[in-house]
Amino acid sequence: MKHLISPLDFTTQELDKLFELAADIEKNPATYAHACDGKILATCFYEPSTRTRLSFESAMIRLGGQVIGFSDAGSSSASKGESVSDTIRVISGYADICAMRHPKEGAATVASEKSLIPVINAGDGGHQHPTQTLTDLLTIKNLKGRLDNFTIGLCGDLKFGRTVHSLIHALVRYPGIRFLFISPEELRIPDYIIEELKEHNIPYEEVIRLEDVLPELDLLYMTRVQRERFFNEEDYVRLKDFYILTKAKMELAKDDMLVLHPLPRVNEIDVEVDDDPRASYFRQAQYGVYVRMALIMTLLGLAPQ
Ligand code: CP
Repeated sequence: MKHLISPLDFTTQELDKLFELAADIEKNPATYAHACDGKILATCFYEPSTRTRLSFESAMIRLGGQVIGFSDAGSSSASKGESVSDTIRVISGYADICAMRHPKEGAATVASEKSLIPVINAGDGGHQHPTQTLTDLLTIKNLKGRLDNFTIGLCGDLKFGRTVHSLIHALVRYPGIRFLFISPEELRIPDYIIEELKEHNIPYEEVIRLEDVLPELDLLYMTRVQRERFFNEEDYVRLKDFYILTKAKMELAKDDMLVLHPLPRVNEIDVEVDDDPRASYFRQAQYGVYVRMALIMTLLGLAPQ
């Protein structure tokens, strides 16, 4: 039985297969309308979500399966003190596969150790968000035509941003990637990631001003400063509008640079940028459904060989 806890749980060859399947699902949705007939997905979300939970639910329904679950810890027996381990043992008898989001780092790993069904990490604290990474990689592959040889700028909350951490883990396996980390001092990329890049001789730079590096980028991955990860409101208020991508700043960028964002967006991308053909974040959210359909089929052993 296979789980998806970290983006590294799939080899690059396995990812290629997953993306091929996602592309075929997008082209021929009717072919897959009954692929998961009789199967049940449990979505156990201890933290808020729009895209991840609803795209998982949409994915399973589009595959002919059904969905059960909860969308906040308060409406589950976690509010009575039940552990993740006990919950997943019980859910294993109710569903065939489980997507779990939890505020604590490592919660999905704990669940996978006790689970009798595949567990998908739908975000664990500030740690990892591997299905967002699958979405990001599919978007880059579809819109750029490749997953190698580009300069990517990651901008915003690089300290707590689990989407950023997961994406870097996944991208270090492709050749020719150069990382530009754009953040205020307080939200710098964690040291353990820098160590990993140094170990693999992967080029990176850390900068504070977005404008200084914008002309060099093939991809700009914007992120939200996350109020829910701050210990005090004062720090959040000071940093929340540190970066705002505007139409004027976009003039500094290459004509074919893609702007990605895992969403939700708050102020970090001005809505006037949405009409720019390089703004790809809403297409990115749509690709999340196809890649999650491919993932569910793959983890249930229902993907075509
Ligand atoms: N990108 C993402 O994880 O969005 P949600 O928090 O809405 O699921």
